[in-house]
Amino acid sequence: SLAKVVATRRLLPISQKRLEQQTQWDLVQWQEDRTIPREKLLKDIKGAEALLCMLSDNIDEEILEAAGPQLKLVTTLSVGVDHIDLKTAKERNIKIGYTPDVLTDATADIGALLALAAARNMKKGIDSVTTGGWQDWRPAWLCGHQFTSKTLGVVGLGRIGQAVAHRLGAFGIDRLVYWGRTKKEGVNGEWVSLDQLLMESDIVVVCCPLTPETQEMFDYAAFKKMKKNAVFVNISRGGIVNQADLARALKEKVIAGAGLDVTTPEPLPLDDPLQNLDNCVILPHLGTATFETRETMGDMMVDNILAALENRPIPYESK
Ligand code: GLV
Ligand code: GLV
Repeated sequence: SLAKVVATRRLLPISQKRLEQQTQWDLVQWQEDRTIPREKLLKDIKGAEALLCMLSDNIDEEILEAAGPQLKLVTTLSVGVDHIDLKTAKERNIKIGYTPDVLTDATADIGALLALAAARNMKKGIDSVTTGGWQDWRPAWLCGHQFTSKTLGVVGLGRIGQAVAHRLGAFGIDRLVYWGRTKKEGVNGEWVSLDQLLMESDIVVVCCPLTPETQEMFDYAAFKKMKKNAVFVNISRGGIVNQADLARALKEKVIAGAGLDVTTPEPLPLDDPLQNLDNCVILPHLGTATFETRETMGDMMVDNILAALENRPIPYESK
């Protein structure tokens, strides 16, 4: 009998078609345009050899166990794999597929966009246009902070972090400092301690993965170390930030502003303290959201599943 492949969402048209047209598997795919209910996934995954999931699915031990011992691959439409129980997957010899590289440019674009938006009061500006707050031209109104000759601090200088630094370099940034586990060779930036990065950066952009070590590493004490004119940008995962502390720091003007593409939880509740802050620009996790990138991510999923079912090495494997 054919192998069972379970998908928790439909993909974009071209990669969806490829997923559907394979004759070597039976596809069981959630068709509604909302996250698959947990009970449904627990049922569907029984007997699956491969699972195609999203970053919004919580792939924990219970889900992996419900699949049964034949599950070979969990492949996620994201570069982040923090929503998957990696320890259990390893114990059960389940490979993890993901989508590195292809999404670097799209995600870095959103990082640069949020840095500029936060530094130049984009939220206050747009709000003033739509609510009548825009009355006349004033010399000091909505003045923000310029990037020329400033210092950028990147937390996690991987592919995405380097692409953000490259983009912001075009806006006149003249110094790059970064913090991470390893010093990067061939990078025009200084590997510094986290404290030094916080104290010296005018723009702090977080691009590192969410792990037990980085969980809530940005708390009130961290924001206190930053410059008063600094902007904080997070394009990684909401879990890196203690959100109540960020809201407090923004409210007290401990830092100038924030730009977030990720929050805890997602979607961010309407009554969350961050919602009412005019110095906090928030996007609904749009990092990889371009047609080009999302189609290619979908193709990578299909390639991963084909390889897993044919017992070949997974082309896009997170190890
Ligand atoms: C997006 O957040 C991703 O991990 O791909
Ligand atoms: C993270 O995965 C990166 O590509 O920077």
